[in-house]
Amino acid sequence: MRNMVAPSILSADFSRMGEEVEMLEYCGADLIHCDVMDGSFVNPITFGSQMVKEIRKRTKLPLDVHLMIEHPQTQIENFARAGANTVTVHYEACYRIRKQYIKDTLYMIRAKGMRCGLVVNPSTPVEVVKPYLPLLDQVLLMSVVPGYGGKLFIPETLDKIRRLRSYILETGKEIDIEVDGGITESNVHSVLEAGANIIVAGSTVFNSPDKVVTIKRLRGENI
Ligand code: DX5
Ligand code: ZN
Repeated sequence: MRNMVAPSILSADFSRMGEEVEMLEYCGADLIHCDVMDGSFVNPITFGSQMVKEIRKRTKLPLDVHLMIEHPQTQIENFARAGANTVTVHYEACYRIRKQYIKDTLYMIRAKGMRCGLVVNPSTPVEVVKPYLPLLDQVLLMSVVPGYGGKLFIPETLDKIRRLRSYILETGKEIDIEVDGGITESNVHSVLEAGANIIVAGSTVFNSPDKVVTIKRLRGENI
């Protein structure tokens, strides 16, 4: 599967979001990772579908929306209208509502013509996604506790990636494994080697003096 880099705009200058997104496209990003936080599922509040709608006007790149919110079903329609390409929802936000909630949410995302994904926190075993694999386009494994950028990569994630890749192989389906949090030019090789193919990176991209080179390196290119 193709390796892709999804810079997280959480580390962007929010007062210049349009230019930041154009810059990421110019520098070779594959996707734009949009971190939506509601102040409840995670403490910070970032932005909602209105911001995604504005970003949509500034780039042709697919928009990868990571919903760190409670009751994600209430927002699916809004993000579809805003032009999101992929919507991922947290297993932890869904399973406590009711058993069927996860499946219903994934179907709802699909019905709106978007790709769907399930996100798993560092403390949640990756095995919880197994029953949902037939419905998923991607799985997002958090490699930090969600809420903030610039935190250290949790090394136990590597084993979760390997296990998930083997479960996916058993299904015979092509499902992307996305990893989010604490990824740098030095640890990205182990993440890719373990079987991930979508790399989310916020601070590594935005702090880089040469974003073109950094994005290539995060994609696994030898440069
Ligand atoms: C964290 C977010 C991440 C974050 C990653 O809750 O989901 O997407 O922006 O930032 P870095 O790459 O700086 O860890
Ligand atoms: Zn994210």
